[in-house]
Amino acid sequence: MLLCMVTPEAVPYAKTGGLADVTGALIKEFNSAGLKAFLFMPFYSEVIKSDNISDTGIRIRLQILSETIEASMLESGDKDYPAYFIRCDKFFMRKGLYGESSGDYPDNALRFSFFSRVSLEAMKALSLRPDIIHLHDWQTALIPFYLKNFYSGDPFFKDTKTVLTIHNLGYQGIFHPSQLPYMGVGLEYFNPEGLEFYGKVNLLKAGIIYSDAITTVSENYAREILTEEYGFGLDGILRKRSSRLFGILNGIDYELWNPETDIYLPKRYSIKDIGPKRSCKISLLRELSLRLTPEQPLIGFVGRFASQKGVDLIAEAIPDIIRLGAGLIMIGEGDREIEKRLLKEAEAFKDSLYLKTGYDEALARKVYAGSDILLMPSRYEPCGLTQMISMRYGTVPLARATGGLVDTIEDYDHLKEKGSGFLFRGYNSAEMIKSLKRAFCLLRQKRRWMSLVRSVMKKDFSWKGSAGKYIALFRKLKEARL
Ligand code: ADP
Ligand code: GLC
Repeated sequence: MLLCMVTPEAVPYAKTGGLADVTGALIKEFNSAGLKAFLFMPFYSEVIKSDNISDTGIRIRLQILSETIEASMLESGDKDYPAYFIRCDKFFMRKGLYGESSGDYPDNALRFSFFSRVSLEAMKALSLRPDIIHLHDWQTALIPFYLKNFYSGDPFFKDTKTVLTIHNLGYQGIFHPSQLPYMGVGLEYFNPEGLEFYGKVNLLKAGIIYSDAITTVSENYAREILTEEYGFGLDGILRKRSSRLFGILNGIDYELWNPETDIYLPKRYSIKDIGPKRSCKISLLRELSLRLTPEQPLIGFVGRFASQKGVDLIAEAIPDIIRLGAGLIMIGEGDREIEKRLLKEAEAFKDSLYLKTGYDEALARKVYAGSDILLMPSRYEPCGLTQMISMRYGTVPLARATGGLVDTIEDYDHLKEKGSGFLFRGYNSAEMIKSLKRAFCLLRQKRRWMSLVRSVMKKDFSWKGSAGKYIALFRKLKEARL
């Protein structure tokens, strides 16, 4: 089976969040399972840092209004991870992937429709006739639309099926209708059955309507997005397509996330020898000048500072968390208002609170290893990878019971001494603090806590099972059994 995966980001080339972890891991999984899987992504300035990327010599030109725009096709020499990069510097050689601190790039509709159209032309130029095109999020969601409307008579894509994976319904690619001509889309498609969405153009909606199957990143989120509460206005259209909507839980790359081999950790450890995890905590406290004893609970947060992630709950609860004798380390970037608010708290509680604004992979890994608890009070969470990463590192997640967090964390039962973390339901800091108190209480009972740590480390969140589910879906589509 030949698969072309078209994605706006992938590890190790460019990453803003979990999407990159997922696509980077899946492409390797698919190839090792015997599929011929190729990745297509834009050539951003970040990608330049990667070695062994070369020019294929292939050039693709698109006519956009009165302008002809050319893209060159680059490729990586990695056999386990065949990847093609679409290079068009005026679109992709910028500081950010989708925008900068001042906001999203105003030409994102043009940038990503260009990327989508060039990807299809590139498959033809490379003679990669795909059985399946696997798409990710709004940036690539026009591809099923283009295929169904502009390539329907093209024998090259006659047997091609499309699968759209929704990583986050909160980001839909919504643009002013004046952008349609830049995407090569005529006004005849701008209606409620097509790309129109409350007077605007919605790219994710196009993907939902025109793809052959839709997946999202956990079973629970697949159910949630059919409701008004989590549907972001697309629940109606998703309900219409619910027979083609599947939840497939994300995994994490067990080679990349491994406390036994992680080069960023001052001491490495495994389930057989957890002892050095304490040294990771001590060294983290020292590195960040936190005045805490190793006995005091240490809480970590790694993630985007977006309202999705429940950062406002954390900000509100900081004085209580510190009053309870815990320390808190937060790494992230995003919403300027949230950053400002957290900075103020960090100033006030220097001894127990460390805030790092920005993206810092090394520190993130030290936090996964050195913390006792990883906090994830998300308002909504399609899957979430950080709770799985933290469990691999023996750090117990404390999260709000939503989306994929429900599918990956079993609330600790103090009577049965069973579970893999702590969950709370209501979106308010009082419930979060109540859960934290439960966790702190257990943390004081060393034997019980260590047995919880061992049981979270034993969990299997590798890609094995879920990659198989994607492949089974691809087979069904190829054999027209769906
Ligand atoms: P999302 O995709 O919604 O941002 P996930 O939990 O799925 O959240 O994935 C987040 C990924 O990004 C994880 O690999 C996490 O380690 C990483 N990450 C997020 N923020 C940062 C940061 N500030 N520094 C380093 N890594 C980060
Ligand atoms: C999204 C979601 C997150 C998910 C990630 C990878 O950005 O917010 O929950 O884990 O994509 O699928």
